[in-house]
Amino acid sequence: MKKRLAVIGHPISHSLSPLMHNNEFHELGLDYEYEAIDVVESELELVINSFRSLDFSGFNVTIPYKEKVIPLLDEIDEEAAAIGAVNTVVNRNGKLIGYNTDGQGYMSALENISPTWKKKKILIIGAGGAARAIYISLLRHSAAMIDLTNRSVQKAENLKTDAKVSNSNVLSISEAEEQLGNYQIIINTTSVGMKHTSGVPLQLTNLNKEAVVSDIIYTPMKTTWLQNAEQKGAKIMNGITMFVNQGALAFKYWTGISPNQERMNQVVINNLK
Ligand code: ATR
Repeated sequence: MKKRLAVIGHPISHSLSPLMHNNEFHELGLDYEYEAIDVVESELELVINSFRSLDFSGFNVTIPYKEKVIPLLDEIDEEAAAIGAVNTVVNRNGKLIGYNTDGQGYMSALENISPTWKKKKILIIGAGGAARAIYISLLRHSAAMIDLTNRSVQKAENLKTDAKVSNSNVLSISEAEEQLGNYQIIINTTSVGMKHTSGVPLQLTNLNKEAVVSDIIYTPMKTTWLQNAEQKGAKIMNGITMFVNQGALAFKYWTGISPNQERMNQVVINNLK
């Protein structure tokens, strides 16, 4: 029997997940099919309950349901509970178990480009859902020091309080711009610079040339902000690897098999060009 998987969200039509996963199932000869399902909020519970059916191996959850899905599941993994968001669900004999592979997906991408990231001074720009997953995941995996900056400073303060850490500082955007030279890893988790928007999340005038500058955006593949960082001599990382890694971790949860991440990466890049 063909096993089914899905991603639910609203809107969902632009998701690259079906293409990325279906290609990999095909390449590996696995009898799975992954579809995108647009779900309106009034039907969320009904749809989730339908995924308990045994032909569904699991599903991904994306905006705006990563938090709302939690009370509808049977069990939540510890890291997902700490983050407060679920993006991957596994159906284990009718029981729905929630995980979060966004933070770990980001972390393994970072590990590739900066193997000593745990010892570095990190600045995260943003305090929304994506910032929360990355911040909490990096802290749980022994990051030495992470500061936060956000347009709304109060939101960043709230995130710091939720994470229960004492050695994080919260800065205004202008303070972060002034002190930018202190940071070796700078991560944009806001939507500033995404396709059809202009602007940069933070000015890079005081950037340390040895720094890694990373953006979780992948449309465009190289934001104006990343181009500026590259011109200044910094190493840059876009959001594609994080996207592929979160998918690869989910793939492993569902099938027990490690996919070919290089091939998944290529499928995504080919479809973004
Ligand atoms: P996500 O789940 O993608 O992180 P989110 O929870 O809506 O989305 O968070 C969006 C983040 O982008 C927030 O940090 C937001 O800043 P505020 O908390 O001040 O709203 C940031 N953001 C979005 N648009 C922005 C803009 N035009 N300028 C600066 N920051 C922006």
